[in-house]
Amino acid sequence: RKPDPCIMVIFGGGGDLTKRLVVPALYNLSRNGLLPEQFAVLSVDGADIGVETWLNNLHASMKSFVATRNIELQLQELDDKAWSRLTDSMHYVAGDFLAEDTYRNLAEQLPRLASQYGIAPNVLFYLATPERFFGEIIDRLGAAGLADEASVGGWRRVVIEKPFGHDLASAMSLNARIGKVLREDQIFRIDHFLGKETVQNILAFRFANGLFEPSWNRDRIDHVQITAAETVGVEGRGAFYEQTGCLRDMVPNHLFQLLAMVAMEAPSSFDAEAIRQRKAEVIEAIRPIEPADAVRGQYGAGAVNQTLSRAYRDEPNVSPESATETYVALKVNVDTWRWAGVPFYLRTGKHMGRRTTEIAIRFKSAPIASFRSSGVDAFGPDWLVLQIQPDEGISLQFDVKKPGPKMALAPVRMDFKYADWFPSESNVGYETLLYDCMLGDATLFQRADMVEACWKAVQPILEAWAKSPAMDFPNYASGSAGPSAADTLLAIGHGHAWRPLGQPLLPYG
Ligand code: BG6
Repeated sequence: RKPDPCIMVIFGGGGDLTKRLVVPALYNLSRNGLLPEQFAVLSVDGADIGVETWLNNLHASMKSFVATRNIELQLQELDDKAWSRLTDSMHYVAGDFLAEDTYRNLAEQLPRLASQYGIAPNVLFYLATPERFFGEIIDRLGAAGLADEASVGGWRRVVIEKPFGHDLASAMSLNARIGKVLREDQIFRIDHFLGKETVQNILAFRFANGLFEPSWNRDRIDHVQITAAETVGVEGRGAFYEQTGCLRDMVPNHLFQLLAMVAMEAPSSFDAEAIRQRKAEVIEAIRPIEPADAVRGQYGAGAVNQTLSRAYRDEPNVSPESATETYVALKVNVDTWRWAGVPFYLRTGKHMGRRTTEIAIRFKSAPIASFRSSGVDAFGPDWLVLQIQPDEGISLQFDVKKPGPKMALAPVRMDFKYADWFPSESNVGYETLLYDCMLGDATLFQRADMVEACWKAVQPILEAWAKSPAMDFPNYASGSAGPSAADTLLAIGHGHAWRPLGQPLLPYG
């Protein structure tokens, strides 16, 4: 299905996000025939560089992107024809996001482009800017009449990147502020994790199969581990990261979205509202996290993938005494009948030993250890691992009898790998999200109440950590699995242990 003809206005068209994700995704959509028949892009950014320089810069970065990440783009070389087809209708205007002139100019340019391309006046405003501009830009769009659908006679939608606020109060005030200009259904709060195929697959896996859901509850599940371990450091974003830290950067958005997909009740339909409602309910049910159930870490020097890596405090634009965390581990309670008493352990960090994002579900052991009577006492619990990235797929670990005369058991694994079944389906992850907001499908976007509920759950930790900066930083070596306190967090009380990073099969021990 093709989205309505529209113009996409990118605020921050010269920035990193546009270059790394938005434009490659547009390019893929264009190659796959999924952009509207009539479509144009208008980029707005501060630098007065002109459209040619802007497109040349994008072309250069696309070329290197294709060279390094050809799988995501499904090709070996940039397809110049497809690139020109897309860029022929891409335009650039220089403009300060805070100046009224910029919006006056937009109000003139949009009808001009609409008539040049024969497009109805539908406009998707994409805010690929630092967070401080979100409210400012939307206020000005409102003041210039650019967001008012009734007066322009087409739809107007606004896509907002993360971070949406930096705590509960700021998220609430941003919601209230933009709510004065836009209706909730015009707002698309993006979380790029939801664009990942494997994340979307969680719902299909749970609700398109009769097999798993009957076991998907406190009766059969012992605990859940959600891991987003990165090998990268702050990648030149020291100044941003110093303000943000790992908790804000990853938890109330990406990790809670994964948790919501795993823990939500079945929606009554696959409509956007039905799904978002179920997700909102489960996020509301996350008990505000006690500081005692949270561990923070910061990487010191070490080696990641056999390459020596410096400590966080030695990164550019980072204070040598920085108290910013680059790792977080949490024990989360979800207060619903389905999940009461089932801990959800979340961990995420930078400069860790392996890159892996996974959801591991540990089932309860068999109720009676009948094998003991035949001398077998080592048998483990079953695990289901939803591997989000890399090596996208699903694995099930269970026990079998080892061949031989004795009754001895061994854990084995059954694997489904996306690459085996759908070799050419991968993409940069933004395609679905962009396509959906052009269609007006909000399923994969955050509602105002969800964003607030996410912040509410982490607010006690934000407050506790702001009051008492960590004294033991750096407390994990680059290339390790994180600070030892994170192991203690699981061991105390329940005797649990983290799965080894990126290791699909958990040996007994
Ligand atoms: C971003 C964070 O939202 O997600 C980054 O700001 C992080 O710090 C990134 O590296 C992780 O996303 P992905 O898709 O690379 O796992």
